[in-house]
Amino acid sequence: MSTNTHTDIPAAPGGPIPGPTATDPAGTAHSTADSTAPSGADTVPKPAHIRSFVHRRSHITPGQKEALDRLMPLWALPYRTVPLDLQRTFGRNAPTILEIGFGMGETTEAIATTRPGDNFLGVEVFNSGVGALLKRIEASGLQNLRIVQHDAVEVVRDMLAPQSLAGVHIYFPDPWPKARHHKRRLVQPPFVELLASRLAPGGYIHCATDWENYAQQMLEVLGAEPSLCNTCEGYAPRPEYRPQTKFETRGLRLGHGVWDLIFTRKS
Ligand SMILES: C[S@@+](CC[C@H](N)C(=O)[O-])C[C@H]1O[C@@H](n2cnc3c(N)ncnc32)[C@H](O)[C@@H]1O
Repeated sequence: MSTNTHTDIPAAPGGPIPGPTATDPAGTAHSTADSTAPSGADTVPKPAHIRSFVHRRSHITPGQKEALDRLMPLWALPYRTVPLDLQRTFGRNAPTILEIGFGMGETTEAIATTRPGDNFLGVEVFNSGVGALLKRIEASGLQNLRIVQHDAVEVVRDMLAPQSLAGVHIYFPDPWPKARHHKRRLVQPPFVELLASRLAPGGYIHCATDWENYAQQMLEVLGAEPSLCNTCEGYAPRPEYRPQTKFETRGLRLGHGVWDLIFTRKS
């Protein structure tokens, strides 16, 4: 990540996002210009939280860097502290699915391709993954996928209105296997409560992990959230729409099991 001009986690507060146009499908072409002009809401201090990721320098290919430079304004939305108008963002009114931590984006692309009637908002912090997914969007011509490069906890808190989502995908989140690091895990009661509040009634949260101990934590945390209901007794069979992910493949190679969990928001 040291080889390009993007920061790993850009924070670009600003005003409302204009709608998409033919040359600006994400409606973000203004983002560089006004990203330094905070609105009133941006000045309200927010409590700090423990990050589920660490800054790390990772390799980025020239193609990913070029994609970041050229395609961010087209398909990525700057982080803001005002809720997104999803209809304007996607240029249509359709169910919106949030994916947290899409990695290199191969699963995101595959699901967005097989579900053209849904909008997908992918959130990831690392340049290489964002660059890779931008390349995929361009190559595939997908119109139903947008990206935010920022901490998903803040994106959910600040950019998504209550009851605005039809679903949430969290596939193979960083397991933080050491007990002293469990506090860094993404699936924790306060975040699950926040996520559930962003789901429309009937909307779903779908998590998957290859770490048994994290799967148990997910089951406990999701099961304890009063606004959610498990769709299965315990773990769920992998639904057809979820292909095997890169990290899942790695886990399987190491002899790990895989656990899916699907909960829905009560009405
Ligand atoms: C283990 S990888 C899994 C990637 C992909 N879902 C897969 O299954 O192949 C977890 C990803 O989540 C991202 N991540 C972790 N915490 C995040 C956060 N708070 N906001 C956005 N992305 C996050 C990491 O950068 C990493 O790419």
